[in-house]
Amino acid sequence: MSAQRYRASPDAVSAASASTGGEFRALDACHLEIANHLDRLQALVDRIGRDGVTTQAQHEAAEIESFFSATARSHHADEERHVFPPLLASADADMVQAVRRLQQDHGFIEENWIELSPQLRALAGGYHWYDLDELRHGVQVFIDLLRDHIELEESLIYPHAKAHWAEVFARRAQRRAEVGAG
Ligand SMILES: [Fe+2]
Ligand SMILES: [Fe+2]
Repeated sequence: MSAQRYRASPDAVSAASASTGGEFRALDACHLEIANHLDRLQALVDRIGRDGVTTQAQHEAAEIESFFSATARSHHADEERHVFPPLLASADADMVQAVRRLQQDHGFIEENWIELSPQLRALAGGYHWYDLDELRHGVQVFIDLLRDHIELEESLIYPHAKAHWAEVFARRAQRRAEVGAG
């Protein structure tokens, strides 16, 4: 799956003016993809602990590394660009605080990934210099961070962001109707 699929330009967001559905369906779909790759990452570490670095484990490490380095990063960038800004302008102090926490999460996730990704690339290349306990710990921190992050986004942030864009698009449609009627 390409990173491009989840990359949305401001024009693309505007183009979704008929409804807010398309853009958020892509973001929601990416959360499912992230959850799926977190499960694969967990299974990979368990398998390596049990069987060592097999050829299958190498392939799996390469695919997982590529997904989080490209698609997941792109997803976070889309949220920073399109989802968070209108919420940060909100008068709701709790909402602003929650979005600030999500921004901070993106930083922590990136820091964690910068430590983890070279280990996965090494595994993909068949090198055996990894420390299994260290890898297991890094993976667990990464999984916990991302699961917690997605839960907060889906329960609190996405519904508000969807409501915001629905309002924007409804106003726009009304203006167009008024211009058309005049
Ligand atoms: Fe996020
Ligand atoms: Fe997200």
